[in-house]
Amino acid sequence: FSTRLVIDGDFSIAQLDRRIFGTFVEHMGRCVYTGIYEPGHPTADENGFRGDVMTLTRELGATVIRYPGGNFLSGYNWEDGVGPKEKRPVRLDLAWYSTETNQFGTNEFMQWCRDLDVEPMFAVNLGTRGPDEARHFLEYCNHPGGTELSELRRQHGVEEPHGIKFWCLGNEMDGPWQICQKTADEYGRIAKESAKLMRMVDPSIQLAACGSSKHDMPTYGAWEDRVLEHCFDEVDFISLHHYFENPHESTAEYLANIEQTDLFIKEIVAVADSVAARRHSSKRIMLSFDEWNVWYKARTPEHLRQPGWPQAPRLLEEVYNHEDALLVGGALITMMNNADRVKTACLAQLANVIGPIMTEPGGAAWRQTIFFPFAQAAKYAKGRVLRSLIESPSYQAETFPEVKYLCATVVHDDESGQTAVFALNRHLSEAQEITVELRGLGEELRLVEATELHHTDMKAINTQSSPHEVWPETNAAVTIDGAFVKARFKPGSWNVIVLS
Ligand code: AHR
Repeated sequence: FSTRLVIDGDFSIAQLDRRIFGTFVEHMGRCVYTGIYEPGHPTADENGFRGDVMTLTRELGATVIRYPGGNFLSGYNWEDGVGPKEKRPVRLDLAWYSTETNQFGTNEFMQWCRDLDVEPMFAVNLGTRGPDEARHFLEYCNHPGGTELSELRRQHGVEEPHGIKFWCLGNEMDGPWQICQKTADEYGRIAKESAKLMRMVDPSIQLAACGSSKHDMPTYGAWEDRVLEHCFDEVDFISLHHYFENPHESTAEYLANIEQTDLFIKEIVAVADSVAARRHSSKRIMLSFDEWNVWYKARTPEHLRQPGWPQAPRLLEEVYNHEDALLVGGALITMMNNADRVKTACLAQLANVIGPIMTEPGGAAWRQTIFFPFAQAAKYAKGRVLRSLIESPSYQAETFPEVKYLCATVVHDDESGQTAVFALNRHLSEAQEITVELRGLGEELRLVEATELHHTDMKAINTQSSPHEVWPETNAAVTIDGAFVKARFKPGSWNVIVLS
């Protein structure tokens, strides 16, 4: 069947904020310990950072990494994770029923970020703690010197301030599972006061308030409205969290979820802008989609909690298949197509815990299927997201009335002249013959690269012993004629075409 995608170089949605290619490192399961940090591992450096995981993180192209949680955050004392390691306390982590040794903390994470040249996204605990600790933590991290806390950081071997720019005000504070859950009014007030104090310490920071933990929370919408009513003037972002599931065990229904994400984003924009309207304010709150991924297989009780307060247990070790990679690609397309409001996003998480990277303690590290759409988008999506006109047949899903088989976005970089097309063929049995018309980008376009991620088995996975089962291949069925690109997209495939 045929589809058509038309863009015009003059018509853009917005400049893409590259922070949408963020990921997340939480102290839970094996994300930190035996994930990114494993002293004694054959590839570990002098800091205990796993070299194989660092190499894969670079290849993944993550631009920003959120830390230290997650649910863990709401019971975390930042002081436990700084200073001499032998003096750091071992504590119970009530979020994940694990033992936290605190051998990895703020300064280790910042060193790891610097080594990888990624931006940190930090979070302050507004569960068990509040504005006072928030301002102290920020002072420890960002104040140059001359105060007790900034000098403490220097005693800990970090002479220069970390200069952490992005701060989340708590995590999922609406969730009954959260350590010290709050009502919207309780949280909104604390978020406002914490933000005020933090800005006094460092006016250059950006702050994100917690939105709903998920789209189907009973207080969804009302929560954002109430929270922003309190802290609209003090924050820059509201957060969105979403984990995709496949309850119908149907690929077609599953891929329709992508449309729900678009709706989710637009609903939160509407709520935030209605708060602005009530205040007669031209300020626009941006969206931080700071937790998202596929997560439905590793959800049984033993994936969430293991007996005996273990250290770094195997939690949420979701194994991703080919259809999960399609969904992740589609979610990225949706976020890019909302680039005017989604400015940061974090694939949750990075290693082992619902992660694109898997590791074995003392052993190998490999790429899960979802690694590829993320890495390709992070590599090639630069510049302006262009408005796409899409003509495509569609199907009717139970969860969404009209799902176009073609799901796509086009990003153009004025500096390099490079254009990247990212597209899903959501038809599961037929190839798609697509014509892409690229108006106003020059007469003679040149093909830089065309790849497809395709597998005949939607449930195909990459494992330690078979790490290349799902892997992008060159798509030879791509031709260029002036400003027209013609391509064949295989059924159930993720496609990337790069032109210059
Ligand atoms: O990413 C796993 C968990 O999911 C996070 O800790 C929490 O914020 C969310 O519920």
